[in-house]
Order: sequence, then C-alpha cells, then structure tokens
Amino acid sequence: MITVGGFNTAIDRLVTLDVLQPGAVQRASTVQSYPGGKGVHVAQTIAALGEPVQLVGLVDAPHRNVVTRRMSERGVLFHGVEMGEGLRQCLALRERDGRMTEVLDPGPMLTTATRDQLLRTLERALDSSEALVLSGSLPRGFESDTYAKIVRHAASLGMACLVDASGETLRQVVDARPCVIKPNRDEAGQLVGYPVDTPAQAETLLRELYARGVVRPLVTLGEQGAFGFDGESVWHASLALERSMNAVGSGDCFLAGMAVAYQRGLAFDESLRLAVACGAANAMGEETGFVERSLVQSLLPKVRVQRIVAPARRA
Ligand SMILES: Nc1ncnc2c1ncn2[C@@H]1O[C@H](COP(=O)(O)OP(=O)(O)OP(=O)(O)O)[C@@H](O)[C@H]1O
Ligand SMILES: [Mg+2]
Repeated sequence: MITVGGFNTAIDRLVTLDVLQPGAVQRASTVQSYPGGKGVHVAQTIAALGEPVQLVGLVDAPHRNVVTRRMSERGVLFHGVEMGEGLRQCLALRERDGRMTEVLDPGPMLTTATRDQLLRTLERALDSSEALVLSGSLPRGFESDTYAKIVRHAASLGMACLVDASGETLRQVVDARPCVIKPNRDEAGQLVGYPVDTPAQAETLLRELYARGVVRPLVTLGEQGAFGFDGESVWHASLALERSMNAVGSGDCFLAGMAVAYQRGLAFDESLRLAVACGAANAMGEETGFVERSLVQSLLPKVRVQRIVAPARRA
C-alpha cells in the first residue's frame, strides 16, 4: 500500500471560454467541477496504474460525499479529516488555444485540533503502508517544517518518502534526507538560487541535492522531460508530444509514476520512463492530474531515456 499525505484537498472548477479578456464580462462555454488538489491527483494516478493507495486529506461536510465517492470510483481509499471551514476552491480558465489561467484560493486556516487530527490520521495510515508520498502545499496553520518532520518519522519506520513541495517547506524537506524530491524548473531554481534550464545546470542541481542527502533527486522541466540522479549517473527522460491539451498536474502524475515504480522495485531508468510517460499522458488529456493506464502503457516505449553522465564522472 502507498499512502499519500496530500492534505490540501480542493474543489476545482474548470471554465472554458473563447479568449480571456481581463476586465470584461464573459460567458463560459462549459463549466466543470470536481475534487482536486495534488493529493487527489497523485492518489488517483497511483490507483489508475494499479497499486493499492490511500489518501489522507481535508474535507468539509458539504463535499464529504462527493470527494469520497470520486476517490472510491477511482480506487482510492480516502481518509477525509473534516473541518469546520470550507475546502479550497480553485479556478482554471481555459481558452480556445489551450492557454490556462489558474486562480488558487489560499485555503482554510486550520485549527490546532484539525492539524493534530490530520497528523494522527496519517500516522495511523502509515501502519499499513510501504511508501509515503507527501504532495502539495501545506494548509495554512501548519509550520513549514511539517513535511520534514514527517519525512524523519517515516524514515525511522524504514519507509521511503517521496515529496513534492516548494519554497521553505521543500528547503526543510531536503535537510530531512527524503528518498525522492521532484521540484519543477521554478521550484528548483528557487531552492538553489541559480537557474535550472540546461542539462549542465540540472546535473549541478542534482549532485548538490544528492550531496545534501536526497537519495534520488529529480527535476522536471515540463515538455523537456525530467532529469534524475541515482548516485552514479545522471539520466534524462523525455517524450515529445505533437500537442499538449493540459499539462497542469503533469508533475503530480509524474510523481505518482515514480511512487509506483518505487513500490514495484523498478530500476532507476525504468522508473524515470514510467514517470515521464505518466506526465506526458496527463498533458495529452483534458483532465488535470489523472491518466489512463492503457495510455501510459502505450507511451512507455516512446519515452527516450538516456544516461547523460557516465558513472566515471562521479563527483
Ligand atoms: N507538454 C508536455 N509534453 C510532454 N511531457 C510533458 C509535458 N508537460 C509535462 N510533461 C512531463 O511531465 C513531467 C512533469 O511536468 P512539469 O515539469 O510541468 O511538472 P510540474 O510543473 O510540477 O506540474 P504540476 O505541478 O502542474 O503537476 C515532465 O518532466 C515531463 O516528463
Ligand atoms: Mg508540480
């Protein structure tokens, strides 16, 4: 069983319109609403790939049924911690040419009781799992070292921890020596203070993170694929798509692929292949943060995986 701690559950609204005109009154072509947030994306993608998964996250009374039902339809065991305040509402505006504008709600400010309950629920869930994924922003009210503390606790139980975070939370996670982190280009640049655009910069970043104790550091560069370091070699994996429909959530699906690969004991290059296929599969579809297993399977052979720095150049 893989446990996902993705506390900041959201209700996502996807509004499609012709061309966004700031300041104007506009009519939407379609409006859809569904449970979202990084925890939901990662957990439902892990389930789609066929691994048992449970998600610990926030819920409110009006949305408990809809979130639990959606998660159960998708094969995820959802442990929803209910709070008095409303769930985060996130708005995505998609224009005809595919451009997306997202407006993210800051989300609820949690009470001490809700925070404690989330942590206790996660702790209980760990009893029955082999790997832990922590994904997304921490709800307001949590200290920025919360993920780092959970990573240390999971390590003391002998459990691998894969983390997708940013800013100060990510900085502290690195010091806790997690198994995997996967910042994107911007998050990585913010973490180390230099741009991460080229293979050489990615290599410098990954070696630095490895030296700081991250067991398998990764960085994702959108359509340029991902780089990873296994302690010996730097690898690059990518899949060129003719057309991307919606790449929001590709990082979440990438991380889900990595978690599944870890659970199955895949070699590092094959893990990257699966993760990149998941990221690309997400970008090919309309929905944010979800993939079909059959599509991922069909993409696997098309992913180009290359060792870009031979073991002899080890630092
Ligand atoms: N347009 C695309 N074409 C092909 N692959 C893509 C595309 N966008 C993303 N991917 C794949 O998905 C991976 C993760 O994407 P990205 O770097 O955009 O993550 P992210 O910024 O963390 O996304 P999010 O936080 O929205 O989930 C990339 O490394 C790449 O392998
Ligand atoms: Mg991301």
